[in-house]
Amino acid sequence: MEKPLVFITRRLALAPHAVLGTGIEVDQHDEDTLLPRDELLRRVRQATALLPVPGDRVDKEVLEAAPRLRIVANHAVGYDNVDVPACTARAVWVTNTPGVLTDATADLAWALILALARRLREGEAMIRSGAFRGWAPTMLLGRDLRGRTLGILGYGRIGRAVARRAEGFGMRVLFSSRGGGVALEELLEQSDVLSIHCPLNANTRHLIGGAELLRMKRGALLINTARGPIVDEAALVAALRKGHLGGAGLDVFEEEPAVHPGLLSRDDVVLLPHLGSATVETRESMARIALEQVERVLRGERPSTPVNEVSAR
Ligand code: DGY
Repeated sequence: MEKPLVFITRRLALAPHAVLGTGIEVDQHDEDTLLPRDELLRRVRQATALLPVPGDRVDKEVLEAAPRLRIVANHAVGYDNVDVPACTARAVWVTNTPGVLTDATADLAWALILALARRLREGEAMIRSGAFRGWAPTMLLGRDLRGRTLGILGYGRIGRAVARRAEGFGMRVLFSSRGGGVALEELLEQSDVLSIHCPLNANTRHLIGGAELLRMKRGALLINTARGPIVDEAALVAALRKGHLGGAGLDVFEEEPAVHPGLLSRDDVVLLPHLGSATVETRESMARIALEQVERVLRGERPSTPVNEVSAR
């Protein structure tokens, strides 16, 4: 009997066979680089399992190219890159990697908050360019966080982990989420730092647009470690140009890996290449969970981190 085949679209932090049994064949794009769409469509053809990453769009075209597919084991907690209803309609499981990246992502949100509040990017550039001529009382002054308000948009695992860290910095925390907290308007008006932690879906796409940015306090900082399209990037550039916002810390972008050119030249933004979960421990755990889901489904078991419900076929 032919062995089931998993197609893995990137290099992983773990060797796939450290988790998968020998009964499963592996085809892997063993690189950190983007997988061209035509290659994805070609290599998924024989696959019974697909292990994609957030940069891979898994839509009807991919599903049609892969008639044997039984699971899409997304290597991420977010799964906006996967057409879940289309998978469900074809009895294809969709799974994610919840829980294991909470702390790493919350830490990175804080790294961005601190980098902006204390102007780390500009200070680093000053040293490297040779412009640092010694300590001066008014050089590169940032802002204190103590006593300021941190607004958290989306209060799931990661939002809460960001909130817990705020206590150590003496910040007041407000949140707004589907399940409670304050209204979005109040969050925008009260926050000195607004950090985004909601999933991307039809309700949250461009949730933060021009009107919302102008509603924020003058000088407030915007942090996005969730998904780029939650923020209207063109409107963000306009708000920064007007001097309305104090700065933005972005780990995610609307058209990733492209970045709005209006952001690239600014001193008041810190830009990172989607590093939220990028620690050795976290990426190993994410790979392990995704591979375990493949193994379970190909053995005929129910996955342990499903995001859809599939009846037996
Ligand atoms: C996720 O898991 O959704 C992250 O964005 C990947 O770091």
